[in-house]
Amino acid sequence: MEIITDIAALRTRLQREPSIALVPTMGNLHEGHLSLVRIAQQNAGCTVVSIFVNRLQFAPHEDFDRYPRTQANDCQLLQKLGVDIVFLPDEKTLYPVSQEFQLLLPPLADTLEGAFRPGFFRGVAIVVLKLFNIVQPQLALFGKKDYQQLHIVRNMVQQLNLPIDIMTGETVRSEDGLALSSRNSYLSGVERQQASHLFRTLLQIKQAIERGHRDFRSLEESAESDLTSHGWQVDYIALQQRETLLPAHASDTDLVILGAARLGQIRLIDNLEISG
Ligand code: PAJ
Repeated sequence: MEIITDIAALRTRLQREPSIALVPTMGNLHEGHLSLVRIAQQNAGCTVVSIFVNRLQFAPHEDFDRYPRTQANDCQLLQKLGVDIVFLPDEKTLYPVSQEFQLLLPPLADTLEGAFRPGFFRGVAIVVLKLFNIVQPQLALFGKKDYQQLHIVRNMVQQLNLPIDIMTGETVRSEDGLALSSRNSYLSGVERQQASHLFRTLLQIKQAIERGHRDFRSLEESAESDLTSHGWQVDYIALQQRETLLPAHASDTDLVILGAARLGQIRLIDNLEISG
């Protein structure tokens, strides 16, 4: 496995690779990330994993400074999987000058996560586009855990005619249902025990819909009040159309329920696809 920090060196190394898959990450790797790496390896001759904590997608009050940085351990995990290349740029490499060119994102980027994290998807889109331009992969992997991010990246690729296939990985969960996330390490012991309640709430909505419940707004409201009564502060519980991520109507069939809520200081997100 090669660890490359420099863009020119990476480009030279990749010149002789006919099929490249990119797995963009912010590090602190867990089984969710590794599942994407395995899909990449099955579908391309050369797998590049990037690790970069992207300041542009963090708001000033968010956790950029304390985001877990565990590069040595991450590289060990990737080496064990037989990854070809880890791209580990520093900030000056990806942002040598202040990033004045920006992308104007569609209105969807201001809803759901975007409504609670203004500028988040703009930061994600810039860094993902940079990584696409630097690595020029044929394939890139994104997890369904960050459903709206996946949706926005797909739309960007389509609308900007980027010659990249986007493949997805299912959300990897711990035994109690909690979606793996680098931010789970912020949870205290007690919070960790309560944390899977978000997933169970989404699961209850899925089961209610599968039993024929069609009043989506009332399902959202009762899920929200259930979480609130268990000590959560809910940002949103939203039943959306899978294709558009717009609010779902009773006649829609391909649905996704997305949720974001805070336990104490820690904000968790999760989602579940539903065939209604
Ligand atoms: P990060 O949170 O490190 O996630 C990297 C990739 O792993 C994303 O595609 C994410 O959806 C996926 N992932 C995270 N947890 C997962 C889980 N439990 N199961 C399956 N996949 C999971 O998402 C980002 O980084 C950044 O926004 C990035 C795209 C790298 C841009 O900076």
